[in-house]
Amino acid sequence: MPDSSSTVSPVASEVTFPPAFLWGAATSAYQIEGAVREGGRTPSIWDTFSHTPGKTAGGETGDVAVDHYHRYRDDVALMADLGLGAYRFSVSWSRVQPTGRGPAVQVGLDFYRRLVDELLENGIKPAVTLYHWDLPQELEDAGGWPERETAHRFAEYAHLVGEALGDRVENWITLNEPWCSAFLGYGSGVHAPGRTDPVASLRAAHHLNLAHGLGASALRAAMPARNQVAVSLNSAVVRPLSQDPADLAAARRIDDLANGVFHGPMLRGAYPESLLTATAPLTDWSFVQDGDLATSNAPLDALGLNYYTPALVSAVTDKVSGPRADGHGASEHSPWPGADDVLFHQSPGERTEMGWTVDPTGLYDLLMRYTREAPGLPLYITENGAAYDDKPDADGRVHDPERVAYLHAHLSAVRDALRDGADVRGYYLWSLMDNFEWSYGYEKRFGAVYVDYATQERTPKSSARWYGEAARTGTLPS
Ligand code: NOJ
Repeated sequence: MPDSSSTVSPVASEVTFPPAFLWGAATSAYQIEGAVREGGRTPSIWDTFSHTPGKTAGGETGDVAVDHYHRYRDDVALMADLGLGAYRFSVSWSRVQPTGRGPAVQVGLDFYRRLVDELLENGIKPAVTLYHWDLPQELEDAGGWPERETAHRFAEYAHLVGEALGDRVENWITLNEPWCSAFLGYGSGVHAPGRTDPVASLRAAHHLNLAHGLGASALRAAMPARNQVAVSLNSAVVRPLSQDPADLAAARRIDDLANGVFHGPMLRGAYPESLLTATAPLTDWSFVQDGDLATSNAPLDALGLNYYTPALVSAVTDKVSGPRADGHGASEHSPWPGADDVLFHQSPGERTEMGWTVDPTGLYDLLMRYTREAPGLPLYITENGAAYDDKPDADGRVHDPERVAYLHAHLSAVRDALRDGADVRGYYLWSLMDNFEWSYGYEKRFGAVYVDYATQERTPKSSARWYGEAARTGTLPS
């Protein structure tokens, strides 16, 4: 029996999941597809970055990844066998529109059409993410997300994909974790394209907000009205180290830079005043043009939240800078523009292979926050999961009791939030199968399904069976 002692409440088991709750798993194109040179696909910023020496662990790339491009039928059969009801995947922009502009490449669209049809034939509901970090390199060469034009290019791409798949896909997500694209891609540089310019990271954030709004409208124009448009934010749960006013202020500053910078424009049509003030020494935000904030505030049908671990912060109290513990890899450059006086601490408790503290109360708090702040907006957990050092035993089976305990605890937190009034419509486990974990390469295994990278053989871990049973029964197996 998994240890669920850290879950929120003993009465939780009295509440079951709604019958329509979506039980899914998630992946993204560059992390799983491989086949990077097939069908006219051109390099994305992640192809360039991963092929640059020193950028990923062991120099690993997504060239082959888990070869999903060729094995998608088997992967869908596996999902069906496990009993999953939904699958969230992303479209590779470079496969569909290799130069980031102009007409779509039919071969690229056909791949996704085949994948969607296979899912639907197996009773699995697809959810499509348009952008999961893999900008066509040609658009980066033209300036990337710090440039306004990239947002317009994204809207064109969104329209092409919406037109091609809108008749069969109801659930759409414009951007995945724009915080990572802006602040890890252009600030700390630990993600592609690897730039380390704080002003560029703020410009990128704004143009991602604009891209989201333009993309959402472009999607709606291309698709039947019944379809749902959402965005997936890695909205951080930021906790102060103490109730000292300086620590509370540090937590608010990080909350602005992690959350307000995106949900401000997207949900309310405004940046938080405190964010503009805190970053004023870096930029006057004159790249924000009239009408941009109203555009970013395009109507949403749902909000996707990705949750892994909370952040614990304090104010710097002396001149010695503390250890980085923001869970996003080491870099001498900060992904938090204008917040050099904030320290990140490791939250107490058990950790995953990423070094991220296991804390399901963060997920509960996150769901309740948006229940309060965005009343009436349905919520989805579009990612949640954990990396562990999984290995097959002598019989070839993969037992991962830590992941079962992690899922049990976090799904219990979702159930508690449902009981307390959160309108949570579904949960996508990250990830369906082991895959390319960005700058960490293949070493960090997030999958419910184990992948032997030498043979590409897939083996469901015990967590996959556990989760499949939860999906089939709508209750959490003990
Ligand atoms: C968030 C990202 O969306 C996904 O691509 C990544 O693999 C997981 N978190 C785990 O780090």
